[in-house]
Amino acid sequence: MKKQLYLKTFGCQMNEYDSEKIEQLLDEQNGLTLTDSPEQADLIILNTCSIREKAEVKVYSDLGRYKKLKEINPNLRIAVGGCVASQEGANIIKQSPYVDMVFGPQTLHRLPEMIKQRELQGVPQIDISFPEIEKFDQLPALKNTGPSASVSIMEGCSKYCSFCVVPYTRGEEISRPLDEVIEEIIRLTLNGVKEVTLLGQNVNAYRGLMSDGKIADFATLLEYVASIDEIKRIRFTTSHPNEMTDSLIDCFKSIDKLSKFLHLPIQSGSDRVLAAMKRNYTTLEYKSIIRKLKKVCPEITLSSDFIIGFPNETEEEYNQTKKILQEINFDYSFSFLYSPRPGTPASFIKDEISKEIKESRLKEFQEINNNQGKEYTKQMMGTKQRVLFDSLSTKQKGYMKGKTDNNRVVEIEYDKNLFNELVEVQIKGFIGKNLLGIPINEN
Ligand code: SAH
Ligand code: F3S
Repeated sequence: MKKQLYLKTFGCQMNEYDSEKIEQLLDEQNGLTLTDSPEQADLIILNTCSIREKAEVKVYSDLGRYKKLKEINPNLRIAVGGCVASQEGANIIKQSPYVDMVFGPQTLHRLPEMIKQRELQGVPQIDISFPEIEKFDQLPALKNTGPSASVSIMEGCSKYCSFCVVPYTRGEEISRPLDEVIEEIIRLTLNGVKEVTLLGQNVNAYRGLMSDGKIADFATLLEYVASIDEIKRIRFTTSHPNEMTDSLIDCFKSIDKLSKFLHLPIQSGSDRVLAAMKRNYTTLEYKSIIRKLKKVCPEITLSSDFIIGFPNETEEEYNQTKKILQEINFDYSFSFLYSPRPGTPASFIKDEISKEIKESRLKEFQEINNNQGKEYTKQMMGTKQRVLFDSLSTKQKGYMKGKTDNNRVVEIEYDKNLFNELVEVQIKGFIGKNLLGIPINEN
């Protein structure tokens, strides 16, 4: 029987992307197949996240369980990768000596070698270095299944927001060369991919080397991707307000294939808090970007990230955040309770605000945001939407479903000619929580 891999992924889309690569790499080089049961596994890998407290607590509680499995089966190997690994390094082995391998987000391609060395040397292996962009050169192209795929265009982040661990765990921004990205996308289209999501912590900081030695910015990359006929819709995540250049904003008008949806983290509605977060923009500057975006693309939907309870955030500052949520009328957004991350500048600020106050603010905030999201859904009734139908309905027999530009699930009657295609539909009602549509006949 083939050896089995249990791979558990925490956190962001970048981590999910990395996990798919790990899975394929270990299949090709070590003959491991995926299992969904840790009890059956020969190798357990946790691809971890350290962006907020709860993410890492879960990792340590999982490790405790796997320790017991290893006591029963001493041949079991356990690896910890991702951002907790990057942050903790050798500490993981100190705390959990039964862990065999610790690798960072930039060294996952070295896993086969680490597995080998673990057996040869009989001691745990650690590699959490940042060897530039070498990772991508050594990873297999993804074998995708559906019509949507993600492609990582850059790694890391150089913004150093005062609350965030990403620059420390994933390293500074490094972009993949333009040709490499385009080649990966073209390869995906040969397997039937029609929609691509360009991934990075800060995609609009993309600076990709071109074959003529020039540097392509993110808007240029989007134009190249859009020129691939087989690609019908382009998404990207995440972008930072500081690099929303005019040429990027114009793409929402000039590139029809670009999803008319933008996730643009604002974090706070208070200029004092934004400065303390080291976000490098004011609320006025943020609103000016939104104004420009709506000018070139009136139908654009916007979502955002918010941190509630940044150290010493006053009632007044929280109210400003609430106000901007309503004023910009964001669609479903993410809001998080501030969590002090070890080593980040914000974690040294003495915080006077109680946990109870922060939690009640978050609860109120999320309620307002949810209501706004629901209102958006209602307003979609009767409108025309683009949907990429990629799976069968789980609720209604004979129906299939897919997502709109703004990530609403729409179902229509199954039609094999429209399956795995980007289809214009009109929204007619609801099927449970999902929207019900009918295809718009072009003729
Ligand atoms: N690259 C993205 C952010 C990635 S992290 C950007 O452009 O901002 C995703 C989100 O997690 C952030 O937008 C922020 O809202 C949240 N986050 C990051 N660090 C956090 C912390 N220490 N506490 C609470 N939320 C945090
Ligand atoms: Fe983190 Fe700020 Fe970069 S939130 S990922 S340091 S843009």
